[in-house]
Amino acid sequence: MIGHLPQRLLLWFIGLLGIGILALILVCVALQIQVPWDVKTLQSFTMKHYRLYSVKSDNRSLEYQQSAENELDTAEELERKSYKQSDFEDSSVLEHSAKSDQAILNTLKPMPKNETKPTEPDFFGDRYATDDFPSQTNCPNSIRKHVPQTPFAEMFLHSIPVLQWAKHFSPDQYQRLSHYSGAHGWGSVDIEVLKHSLAILNTTANRLMFDDWEKRKNRAQCIRCAVVGNGGILNGSRKGKEIDEHDYVFRVNGAALKGFEEDVGSRTSFYTFSTNTMRNSMRSYAGVGYRGPPISNETRYIFLPDHDRDYILMRAASTHTTIDKGPERSKEPPTYFGEDVTVEKFKIYHPDFIRYLRNRFLHSKLLKTGARNIYRPSTGAVMLLAAIHTCDQVDAYGFMTPDYSVYSDHYYDKQRHPVRFYANHDMRMEMKLWQELHQAGLMNLFMRQ
Ligand SMILES: *[C@@H]1O[C@H](CO)[C@@H](O)[C@H](O)[C@H]1NC(C)=O
Ligand SMILES: *[C@@H]1O[C@H](CO)[C@@H](O)[C@H](O)[C@H]1NC(C)=O
Ligand SMILES: *[C@@H]1O[C@H](CO)[C@@H](O)[C@H](O)[C@H]1NC(C)=O
Ligand SMILES: *[C@@H]1O[C@H](CO)[C@@H](O)[C@H](O)[C@H]1NC(C)=O
Ligand SMILES: *[C@@H]1O[C@H](CO)[C@@H](O)[C@H](O)[C@H]1NC(C)=O
Repeated sequence: MIGHLPQRLLLWFIGLLGIGILALILVCVALQIQVPWDVKTLQSFTMKHYRLYSVKSDNRSLEYQQSAENELDTAEELERKSYKQSDFEDSSVLEHSAKSDQAILNTLKPMPKNETKPTEPDFFGDRYATDDFPSQTNCPNSIRKHVPQTPFAEMFLHSIPVLQWAKHFSPDQYQRLSHYSGAHGWGSVDIEVLKHSLAILNTTANRLMFDDWEKRKNRAQCIRCAVVGNGGILNGSRKGKEIDEHDYVFRVNGAALKGFEEDVGSRTSFYTFSTNTMRNSMRSYAGVGYRGPPISNETRYIFLPDHDRDYILMRAASTHTTIDKGPERSKEPPTYFGEDVTVEKFKIYHPDFIRYLRNRFLHSKLLKTGARNIYRPSTGAVMLLAAIHTCDQVDAYGFMTPDYSVYSDHYYDKQRHPVRFYANHDMRMEMKLWQELHQAGLMNLFMRQ
């Protein structure tokens, strides 16, 4: 008996080894199979694959319908598409009145209660990584020093990582963040894409917002930022000079500058965008002279990653390589950011930061509806809140104010048209937040009345 036991164990061992190898081969084969881009997109983005449409006849309620079309439909794209649908506009649900906005909220189907099974990870995930960075300045009256005396004291996390870079990737972190999709986690990004893209971001400039501050001559005690939205309130404001006089100027999406310098200034230190919103802006605002991200010596590009295409484009742009799949595929390296852009010019928001903003600052009623999977803070909101978390002082221009109906949607609109509301953002809530931050003295919001 004693002699047989090791033999049996050996047989078991060989058997198990065989099964293991077989399983490994199967996994390898499965991974080798090339999934066509659109199929993959469809699969990984079913949650985002919704479309707004208005129900015909007298029933004017809005519903989310899963789109059967095999095409890329991210939240911002949906924004454009829903905006194009004429019956949607005809239904007059989108008039810029408080009533109509409320109508959208009321008619979206509430989520069934108890829909989250106990085993599912929490949708919100109100726990975040921490980064403890010494402040870049010793400003006596910085925003962060003032926060504890304001109503924002509780929700504000001083150690939230605003940017992600090489250090943030690990299989454990991937495991944690892959629970959250879109801009709120890594759930929409393949682990290999993520690993290779984040590995590129290993320079000091990728981790620090104000990477050139220490090198600047005549720098003051405090970092003063101008954060410029694209609101129609800027038309005729003559704020350009004042904006350009800040240490840093933040801009977003379709920020057309040529011909508008007097009102909005001409410098761009930080350009915030997602690949999707940038491409949409290039299509939509070519008519007003928007040709793509601003390019200048001082300009840094901050991706708001809500899709793997952001990680793919960031990597290709900073390594000057081609993109072989996806909507940005190209035979030549991408040139959106100029011919000789370097990796030091790129930053990318941390998904924990965006989820934290959604959960704590912009916890919209939309999160109780079927829109919760497409809802996120707007790109402009992420930019402004990122500035509030990093600058010592913030002056905000071109963000929505209570008198928004007096102005056109954008400062560069050729023809006046009202602000439009979409279900993937909650602009009314953002507008309220800007008022609250202004009243709390955490920023100074440009208002005309
Ligand atoms: C409108 O549509 C909603 C959702 O499909 C339905 O619940 C409601 O009964 C409809 N109302 C009318 C007046 O048809
Ligand atoms: C969920 O279901 C459980 C029982 O299945 C019930 O006790 C609980 O109150 C429900 N929660 C909500 C929010 O409906
Ligand atoms: C940073 O990444 C680049 C490209 O991946 C690599 O060549 C370089 O050695 C890395 N530098 C450091 C300090 O890790
Ligand atoms: C651009 O910036 C670099 C580094 O800050 C500086 O050395 C260079 O002179 C600048 N070039 C121009 C054209 O301003
Ligand atoms: C911008 O302001 C000018 C001057 O007040 C006005 O004529 C024009 O209609 C405005 N443009 C838009 C799009 O509102």
